[in-house]
Amino acid sequence: MNVPLLDLTAQYATIRDEIQAAMREVCDTQRFILGATVERFEKASAAYCGAKHAIGMSSGTDALLAALMVAGVGPGDEVIVPPFTFFATAGTVARLEARPVFVDIEPATFNMDVSKLERAITKKTRAIMPVDLFGQPAEMDAIGEIARRNKIPVIEDSAQAIGGTHRGKRVGQMAEMTCLSFFPTKNLGAFGDGGMVVTNDDTLAKSLRMTRVHGAETEYHHSFVGGNFRLDALQAAVLDVKLQHLEKWIEMRRQNVARYNELLAGSGVTTPVELPHNRHTYHQYTIRIPNGRRDPVFEGLKAAGVSSKIYYPICLHQQECFKKFEYGRGDFPVSEKAATEVLSLPMYPELTEEMQRYVAEQIRRLVKG
Ligand SMILES: Cc1ncc(COP(=O)(O)O)c(C=O)c1O
Repeated sequence: MNVPLLDLTAQYATIRDEIQAAMREVCDTQRFILGATVERFEKASAAYCGAKHAIGMSSGTDALLAALMVAGVGPGDEVIVPPFTFFATAGTVARLEARPVFVDIEPATFNMDVSKLERAITKKTRAIMPVDLFGQPAEMDAIGEIARRNKIPVIEDSAQAIGGTHRGKRVGQMAEMTCLSFFPTKNLGAFGDGGMVVTNDDTLAKSLRMTRVHGAETEYHHSFVGGNFRLDALQAAVLDVKLQHLEKWIEMRRQNVARYNELLAGSGVTTPVELPHNRHTYHQYTIRIPNGRRDPVFEGLKAAGVSSKIYYPICLHQQECFKKFEYGRGDFPVSEKAATEVLSLPMYPELTEEMQRYVAEQIRRLVKG
C-alpha cells in the first residue's frame, strides 16, 4: 500500500467547486494585488484568531521578516530563537544582520525550554521568537511574563499552528505579533506562497501594512524602507474558502492522532505529547525512535510504500551559513538528540483508518529490527 505524507488532492476534491467559484470571482474583477478579497480574508482571519488585526503577507518567511523589521531589529541586535525549527525562524534574524541567540527545547514538546530563556537575555536582546513547533503552542504565558519583565516584545512563529490554543487563548492573542504561514502543506494552505502577521496593537498593524508596501502609507511617499510583502488576492480567495473548513480539518487530524496513538502504543516509539493546557493542531505527527533505529525505520517505511519525513535533520546552530555565530556541537543537546530521533508520519485530515493501520504495522515490524 502507498501512503503519502500528505495528499492535497484528497482535500481539494471536497472543496473544488467553492474554490473555483472564489478564484473565478477574482479573475472576473482582475484585481490581483490587495483590495477587497485580501481585506475580507484578513477580517475573517483576525476574527478566527480572536485578534484585532491580521495583515496578509507574501509568505510566512516574509511575515517573520516584516515583524522583525517593525520591532526595529537591526545590525548587532540579538533575537532569541530555538535551534530546532525551520530555517526561516533564524534566517530572517540573520538577514537583518542581527544574531540569533539559541535557547534549547523541551524534549517532550520540541518547543523552547522556558527555564533556559531568561539567562539568554542580554542588553542587546530586541525580541523573543518562540516557535509553535509541529502545531503545538509554545509556553506563551510563561514566555510573555519573562518578556514583559524584561520589556522585550514577543514575536510568535506560529507558521505551523493556526488554530492552536494555550491556556484558553488562541494563537494570535498571546504575542505582540504572531506570524502565520500558508505554504500549501500547512493546515491552512494556499495555492502557492502566503503568510500573515496577527496583532492586537494598532500602531504595529499600521507599520506592518506600510512595511509590506515599501514603507509607504500613501502611494509613492515612503516613510521607511520596507519590501514587497503583499498577499495575492487569488491566494486570499482560496484561503478564505479554506478557513471556513479549518476547525473541521483540525478535528479530523486530532481524531487521526488518537488512532495513531492507540495503534502505536507499546511499539517502542514515543508518540507526540499534547500538554493538558494546549490544543495541538497536529500540523505534523512526529514520533521519536531512539537507539539509532530512526534511519533504518525511515528507509524501511520507504521500501514499504510509506512516506515519512525528518523535520529537522540539522539544528540551526549547526548550519553552514551560521558558522560565524560560533556555536558548536553539544551546545544544545536536547535539540541535537531530537534531530537524530524524530520522524514525521503521514498526517492529514483525509488519511484513512486502513492507511494508519498499515503505517503502524510497518513501524512495529521495523522498530523490532
Ligand atoms: C516554523 C516555521 N517558520 C517559518 C516558516 C516559513 O514559512 P513560509 O514557507 O511560508 O515562508 C515555516 C514554514 O515553512 C515554518 O514551519
